[in-house]
Amino acid sequence: MKIAIGNDHAATELKWTIKEYVEGLGHEVVNFGTDDNESCDYPEFGKAVGRAVANGEVGCGILICGTGVGISIAANKIKGVRAAVCSDVTTAHLVKEHNNANIIAFGARIVGQELAKDIVKSYLDAEFAGGRHQRRVDMIEE
Ligand code: RB5
Repeated sequence: MKIAIGNDHAATELKWTIKEYVEGLGHEVVNFGTDDNESCDYPEFGKAVGRAVANGEVGCGILICGTGVGISIAANKIKGVRAAVCSDVTTAHLVKEHNNANIIAFGARIVGQELAKDIVKSYLDAEFAGGRHQRRVDMIEE
């Protein structure tokens, strides 16, 4: 799958780790994030990844900032985006299964790199369950 990744200055190192990890799983990663540690504005990257997901350029997205919160709030302003912040593997699985989240977000200042990899793997391995969950996702879209 083609996967977008985006990050601000708080998450550049973790971005490279996750990019390499996801590529190792056989995916193509498109980098929309900053590549250095200069202070920058996370909404820019949330918007870029959100747009790539919403317009179908990529199958899903990964967003990382200090907490995962600001960048996911920005992405969720794009119609069609369902970005979910996760700090554990169970939530990462369930946001796909129940919410059909098309972006997973986490905080570089919150989770370590091994947990971050596990969160991404748990999300990518999960499948949307549909049924009653589809009805609820449709309600969100409305
Ligand atoms: C940057 O210092 C920090 O505010 C940002 O990475 C993020 O945590 C915001 O939600």
